[in-house]
Amino acid sequence: ASTAGLPLRRLGFTPVAKALADMVSVPAGYTARVIYALGDPLAPGVSEYRNDGTDTQYEMRAGDHHDGMDYFGLSDDGRRDPLSSRRALLAMNHEATTDHFLHPNGSSPRPRPMAETDKEIPVHGISVVEIRRQADGGIRTVRRSPFNRRITPETPAVLRGPARGNALVKTMYAPDGLACRGTLNNCGTGRTPWGTLISGEENWAGYFTRASTDNTARGNDKSVASLNRYGRAAGAASRHGWETSGSADRYRRFDISKTGSSTDGSDDYRNELNTFGYMVEIDPYNPAAAPRKRTALGRFAHESGAFNLLQPGRPLAVYMGDDSRNEYIYKYVSNAVWQAGDAEAADRLAVGDKYLDEGRLFVAKFNADGSGQWVELSLSNPLIAGYAAYAFADQADVLVNARLAADAVGATKMDRPEWCATHPSTGEVYFTLTNNSNRKVDVTSSSHAQVDAANPRSYSDSYNGGALGSPGNVNGHILRLREAGFRPDALDFKWDVYLFGAQSDANPALVNLSSLTGDQDFSSPDGLWFSEATGICWIQTDDGAYTDTSNCMMLAALPGHVGDGELKTLNHLRNDGSTLSVTTPVGKAPKPAQLKRFLVGSKDCEITGCCETPDGKALFVNIQHPGETIVQSDVADPQKYTSHWPGNAGYGNGGTLARPRSATIVITRDDGGRIGG
Ligand code: FEO
Ligand code: CA
Ligand code: CA
Ligand code: CA
Repeated sequence: ASTAGLPLRRLGFTPVAKALADMVSVPAGYTARVIYALGDPLAPGVSEYRNDGTDTQYEMRAGDHHDGMDYFGLSDDGRRDPLSSRRALLAMNHEATTDHFLHPNGSSPRPRPMAETDKEIPVHGISVVEIRRQADGGIRTVRRSPFNRRITPETPAVLRGPARGNALVKTMYAPDGLACRGTLNNCGTGRTPWGTLISGEENWAGYFTRASTDNTARGNDKSVASLNRYGRAAGAASRHGWETSGSADRYRRFDISKTGSSTDGSDDYRNELNTFGYMVEIDPYNPAAAPRKRTALGRFAHESGAFNLLQPGRPLAVYMGDDSRNEYIYKYVSNAVWQAGDAEAADRLAVGDKYLDEGRLFVAKFNADGSGQWVELSLSNPLIAGYAAYAFADQADVLVNARLAADAVGATKMDRPEWCATHPSTGEVYFTLTNNSNRKVDVTSSSHAQVDAANPRSYSDSYNGGALGSPGNVNGHILRLREAGFRPDALDFKWDVYLFGAQSDANPALVNLSSLTGDQDFSSPDGLWFSEATGICWIQTDDGAYTDTSNCMMLAALPGHVGDGELKTLNHLRNDGSTLSVTTPVGKAPKPAQLKRFLVGSKDCEITGCCETPDGKALFVNIQHPGETIVQSDVADPQKYTSHWPGNAGYGNGGTLARPRSATIVITRDDGGRIGG
């Protein structure tokens, strides 16, 4: 066991084997317990979850698809206490839903019944739930806590930053453009230095639809270019069809076709989409405070937000990824410089206003020699001001359409940037690049991104006999960067690839470039989070490529630093018979004590979201969407579910044939030591 508080130098546990069982596996000497699952009541008067499709009242139950999550300590008398390991609030995202399990006979076709939509909308959003350590040492939720809260796609929210009041965000709901309704598809999270949660809105665009004639209705104005760039082509179907459930405003808002005659969009829903896609700040300690959307941090498919190591007198940086194929990595830099006293302020959201409403947004360019640049997304850049594909009106327009501005400056297209996190002692920032089916070495197609130094893999010529030209970067990688002079506002950085996901038996020259062993191999890194108690880098997977061999998993890592490895050259065989060589800086291959599989999840789940008690002795992890492959015709036959977790682990109603539920688990060590030591 290591000394409390010092970073670990080696991982002490026995690695967990890859597995396909419908259970959560942790190392010998550890215990995982379910504490908070889909539907759990958050208030007195809300019934126990029956888990048979008849439950309602999701406005005060745990939502579905638990995702990013953070820990907010409470003192014994209920005040904010970041160091408390006895009592706390967990604030977490509920990204999406497995609709079939919310209704008695699965989800019905369109037009969607109102009663079904009325459950599916509020099951999204964010929850805050109090947890307490019990006399027996176990940690449980407190169902009667006054802090318990749900934020849903209908919760009133405030627009902040440069887009506040801009013409782009004027809606029928808020003709002044100062407010908006709710939050959607919340994925990664971050914890601010002042004790609030930032929650990234990710695949929000897909919840909306617009008529096939909408481009014409809009006069083919520049909003069409924006909608197309953010994935809402005219006529594209919405994800759930909520707009088909009735004439009430709460359904109709999901059809963003232009129907009104105003010039500013205040008489229809045409701008509704511009009120989503932000980092949303909430104060878990203040259940009455409205969420604040921080438009200064840009609008895209947000994942986590990682702060730099705090340096009094210097600005704050927030690192972020845009998770879609060939999207970008961003950095926000505050205008205000960090004052340590702000960490203790009583009005936490006012501190958020100070640091997160005024600043500069940058996008990353990665060079082949292991250097990189941050390019500011500003109208003062002639490439943005003179961009032919989109005429930016003002800086708010640049932020609301950050993807277009990043296109204009020629930023580096990445293999789906998921989470990022800051190493607690080196200050280097790590980014998961989960995979990219669109990354190719094919010379005949122009509809894909070519391999480059920062995204150097495509399995077209090597992967288990895969056909030429397919299937892209299947297993993903983890990239890290170090700012010049460790300055949060640096314009230059150094980078390398810390790890490449791969099967341990894959080609070592083109695929298993990190020399992973069977105790370390993984695919599609997604969640990424550093423990401040131990220094462990927790890596979580959301994988579709390796699931024949193992369910999704979580690994513990003790990484080195940028530049600790060597340059490697990948020689790709292209489909015209030529060779394409790409050289990339690759981190030192991990030793067995520096990277180990720690957890394997239940069937058809993703592992995402991670936080801990400050003493490092309890780790919280989310198991998202077990059994998600269900189809409506199989809902009636529980034998056909691929997962019955956590019912089959003894949690809640239903037992071994239960409907599966997304859930939070808490992991402790049987000897009471720090997790991973
Ligand atoms: Fe919701 Fe990109 O993960
Ligand atoms: Ca994710
Ligand atoms: Ca993912
Ligand atoms: Ca997910």
